[in-house]
Amino acid sequence: MDLILLGAPGAGKGTQGALLAEKLGIPKIATGDMLRDAVRQGTALGLEAKRFMDAGELVPDEVILGMVRERLSQADAVGGAIFDGYPRNAAQAESLGRMLGELDRSIDAVVSIDVPEDAIVERMTGRRTDPETGRVYHLVHNPPSAEVRDRLVQRDDDREETVRHRLQVYRTATEPLVAYYRASGVPFYAVDGDRPIEQVQEEILDLLGNDASTTP
Ligand code: AP5
Repeated sequence: MDLILLGAPGAGKGTQGALLAEKLGIPKIATGDMLRDAVRQGTALGLEAKRFMDAGELVPDEVILGMVRERLSQADAVGGAIFDGYPRNAAQAESLGRMLGELDRSIDAVVSIDVPEDAIVERMTGRRTDPETGRVYHLVHNPPSAEVRDRLVQRDDDREETVRHRLQVYRTATEPLVAYYRASGVPFYAVDGDRPIEQVQEEILDLLGNDASTTP
């Protein structure tokens, strides 16, 4: 199955995507994680991407397209993928449709995780990531064990003013994809993401029930 997780920055796409990947046995393709890996490794792509990411702007479409195309060609992605933080605008949505078409695949479902803006700012300022496992925590809502707490890091783009700018970019560039996918005929599910992580996960799995069991 090929599934898109839509939602504002901090809505919980990464958190839900990781749980779904485990449950459905397909990889999560998160362009934000891939870009942060490239930044950490100091590749040319990472250096180019970093200035956009630190400013809360979208990285140019051609950089993202090349990265996703390469990732989709890897063996673990032949049976489907969970797209987290991608596509981010109409051009990316169209190129994803074309890429999947070349592989005789198409989007099976879109899940939009909806969270009010004030909750989002609180989530992102409390977010911490484990650099060893990539696991994402929240200091209050999803606290780490004492064992990992000291090595957790905060994302550079989780400062409040950058978060607010990312939300603005989301409203302008990404939110129109809700109408785009609703009009496309692909099964579209809107989920209230302002609830405990387990409840959100349960609802997504329920909604995907048929698709998840019938599509490889
Ligand atoms: P990206 O990494 O994709 O960031 P984002 O979309 O802004 O989303 P986040 O990762 O911030 O949030 P999330 O929805 O995954 O929430 P999470 O699960 O972590 O992109 C970063 C940057 O990279 C972009 O600004 C752009 O520059 C670039 N980029 C990436 N993709 C691109 C693309 N396709 N095109 C162009 N540029 C691109 O949860 C957030 C926090 O809340 C965590 O602490 C978590 O523990 C907590 N939490 C989660 N769920 C709940 C819950 N139900 N209740 C309480 N707390 C919760």
